Amino acid sequence: MTAALWPATLHHLRRDSPEAERLARFYGELLGDRVEALPGGEWLVAGRGRMLVVGEGAKCAVPYFALEMRDAAQLGAYRRELEQRGAAIEPSPSPLFAPGAFAVADPDGRRVVFGLPASASGTEGKTVARLQHFVCASTQLENMLAFYRDRLGLVESDRVLEDGALAAAFLRSDPEHHSFAAFRAPESRPDHHCYETGSWNDIRDWGDRMARLRIPLWWGPGRHGPGNNLFFMIEDPEGHKVEFSAELELVPRETAFRTWPHEQRTLNLWGSAWMRS
Ligand SMILES: [Fe+2]
Repeated sequence: MTAALWPATLHHLRRDSPEAERLARFYGELLGDRVEALPGGEWLVAGRGRMLVVGEGAKCAVPYFALEMRDAAQLGAYRRELEQRGAAIEPSPSPLFAPGAFAVADPDGRRVVFGLPASASGTEGKTVARLQHFVCASTQLENMLAFYRDRLGLVESDRVLEDGALAAAFLRSDPEHHSFAAFRAPESRPDHHCYETGSWNDIRDWGDRMARLRIPLWWGPGRHGPGNNLFFMIEDPEGHKVEFSAELELVPRETAFRTWPHEQRTLNLWGSAWMRS
């Protein structure tokens, strides 16, 4: 069990597409963020409290997500802990982290990057929506939970069980209920990423923005059981889900995980749910 990961927060992720510039411009319009070409051929979509790297690649892919550590001392201590336990440390694939960042591959082959930002996040922009969590679906959920909890040191917040079998796992790396979660599914794939807003009124305002952009809400509004957050989701042009959230629960580090039944009400206390399995 590693101690050095706490606290770490989701800083950015990379979303791939065969039409990277088109996807980057979609996110720029969705969020009202600036879009710029990066030297390596990738695209950066950046706004207040959020950064997204868009690259050429497979439709809907998220090849890595990146956690920001508190400082260089924490980053170094965490790397030493992982090395002592035999983790295969790889170079960071991210253009947004400073030298010293590194990555490890999870059981599905997705990279988790740890580092410190090369430059401060933007503060411009009126809209509140901080990149907060990434979720994937997996055919090997037990292995994923073991990796993220026992190898990387995230703390389990909630688990969803169906007849005793694991159907979903939510893990935190700071007091916010989850920075990462995984669902059992027939195929391993990215599931969604989420922007945490400041209040229910922000959810209203983002919903109105979706209306102006003629982007229909795909699921919600509702309230999740695990995390207790208000939410809605939309789809990007390739079907990857994007969530807007408010009131995500805060959970002290020592709090033990809870267990939920695998039913629609767990995933949406207000009504129907997206069941991945
Ligand atoms: Fe979510």
